[in-house]
Amino acid sequence: MSAARLDGKAIAAEIQHSIRQGAAAILANRGRAPGLAVVLVGQNPASQVYVRNKRRACAEVGFHSELHELPEHTSQAELMALIDRLNADPAIDGILVQLPLPAGLDEAAVTERIAPTKDVDGFHPYNVGRLVLRRPLLRPCTPKGVMTLLAHTGRTLEGLDAVIIGQSNIVGRPMALELLAARCTVTLCHSRTRDLADKVRGADILVVAVGRPGFVPGDWIKEGAIVIDVGINRTPDGRLVGDLDFASCAERASWITPVPGGVGPMTIASLLENTLQAAELHAE
Ligand code: GUN
Repeated sequence: MSAARLDGKAIAAEIQHSIRQGAAAILANRGRAPGLAVVLVGQNPASQVYVRNKRRACAEVGFHSELHELPEHTSQAELMALIDRLNADPAIDGILVQLPLPAGLDEAAVTERIAPTKDVDGFHPYNVGRLVLRRPLLRPCTPKGVMTLLAHTGRTLEGLDAVIIGQSNIVGRPMALELLAARCTVTLCHSRTRDLADKVRGADILVVAVGRPGFVPGDWIKEGAIVIDVGINRTPDGRLVGDLDFASCAERASWITPVPGGVGPMTIASLLENTLQAAELHAE
């Protein structure tokens, strides 16, 4: 089998098109566009690229967006005070604090300070709890984008065996909850997992988020599996690659996501969806 590509770039473009219409409707009703505040602390080069891409997408759909760049040595109190101001600002529907924060800042405390209806990352314990209870409000962007990609395969997910590699709060854990809510049987693997290859070989759906190029070889892939690569790694010669050995995995999978152009654009599309959803919540 040679896998079909799940074209995240094209699917994200369709989503952006409908979001542009939603943003125009909010503007007509409220007299102002949905607004996203992005907070970037320090000089992490990868974070700077992600933030630039998110703000560009906001401009493309007609959202108001503002960037709050803070120096590396910002104190916890200064960052909390900024969050408080943004929570109280009626022009702001969504607040995104780009992670990771520099050492010394308490990410959990910052995440919990964001008003749950402005938590467009879906990382606040309130939104995580809603996802656990299958009553999601704002859903973490990358797993939400992966669910949209899976919907585009046309496959019924119910009853499938899903394996996730990587247990981060941003991807792996919420991904497990999403797939469980879709009635998959979910195995969440991590660095202490024994017999990883055997577990992956049973996967009808595989989601990989480890941040290591070529981590999954083709002979781990079940024939006909749907394979989702969340990894974004830069090779020494400057190319972007995922966590799969792409060519050998594509020989066995039925569907596969490319890197770039797979999950990455879907994360941004989900962020736009969440910001529009938050604006609708605030308009109620
Ligand atoms: N860092 C890596 N991914 C993300 C994300 O989805 N949101 C935020 N805020 N930071 C990240």
